[in-house]
Amino acid sequence: MDRIFSGIQPTGNLHLGNYLGAMRNWVRLQDSYECIYCVVDLHAITMWQDPAELRTSTREVTAAFIAAGIDPKKNIIFNQSRNSDHTELTWVFNCVARLGWLNRMTQFKEKAGKHRENASIGLYDYPVLMAADILAYKATHVPVGDDQKQHLELARDIAQKFNNDFGVDLFPLPEPIILGVASRVMSLRNGTQKMSKSDPSEYSRINLNDGPDDIALKIRKAKTDPEPLPSEVAGLEGRPEAENLVGIYAALGDRQPEEVIGEIGGLSFSQFKEKLTELAVAELGPIGAEMQRLLAEPDEIDKVLSDGGARARALTAPVLAEVFETVGFLTD
Ligand code: TYM
Repeated sequence: MDRIFSGIQPTGNLHLGNYLGAMRNWVRLQDSYECIYCVVDLHAITMWQDPAELRTSTREVTAAFIAAGIDPKKNIIFNQSRNSDHTELTWVFNCVARLGWLNRMTQFKEKAGKHRENASIGLYDYPVLMAADILAYKATHVPVGDDQKQHLELARDIAQKFNNDFGVDLFPLPEPIILGVASRVMSLRNGTQKMSKSDPSEYSRINLNDGPDDIALKIRKAKTDPEPLPSEVAGLEGRPEAENLVGIYAALGDRQPEEVIGEIGGLSFSQFKEKLTELAVAELGPIGAEMQRLLAEPDEIDKVLSDGGARARALTAPVLAEVFETVGFLTD
């Protein structure tokens, strides 16, 4: 069976983009693939994280996975630092990847901003660790949002260069799975910017653990334009905020924008926002409630991560042994 690896950083609240762009797809893929879903704490510390908050966030993301419907028995759920094979393989890959490749990574440029010299080396190396995450399991498929496409291409380049350099066929070239209208959910305050955990405005995103009042308030405050909603999808062109809200409405209802536009075309934004709020509360409310229930028993969450970590190590140990042998390291 083909194997999936994907991950989410435990840095603050999960938002609607993480859910619609990644996690909801993970739930659906668990029946057709062997799946490994990781809370990537090693990636999280590439930017400063308060240790107590990191622990809380790691448990919250784990609770969100389970609350969204990922079965921790059938799939592997663990936090990345529990399997040191990820970091060992990263070192080998650091010696395969080229500086020029990393210099092209747009996410590093965005995150490092103007203070590039002051960014951590970990932030620069982030995509190499991501390649190691995937390839330590010889994963064949990686479901992610649109913003991870470039990192996936790098993982493929590293796999290919390793195979070529050593004349082996050790790593498969992992395929991205980027699904649907919600692969890039935009900010509620600016339809041209991605919804993101790092946006300073809380009103820019809906969090998975927001209650109905917060959801309603954020949607009410969402930026719009003065025109009513168009009755054809083509009418959304050049109207990024409208396009985003319609996309969210379609994705939450598991429909295409073409299907919903007939229903909402001609409505004013305030009428449409009521419908959107109702749907968002109905879809996200039960997940938030289940997260709260699970978080009341942190020991159970820790058990899931510990069990997942052991199962993860069992999968990567033979791959690392193969890599060490290929590279020429003497081992026991
Ligand atoms: P992170 O935590 O930034 O994002 C987690 C997932 O959410 C998706 N996503 C979005 N999708 C749609 N619209 C948005 N506005 C939006 N914002 C985020 C991301 O594409 C991602 O799928 N580097 C990864 C974590 C990672 C990983 C891996 C993923 C580490 N190792 C190995 C796959 C395989 C990341 O972006 O995390």
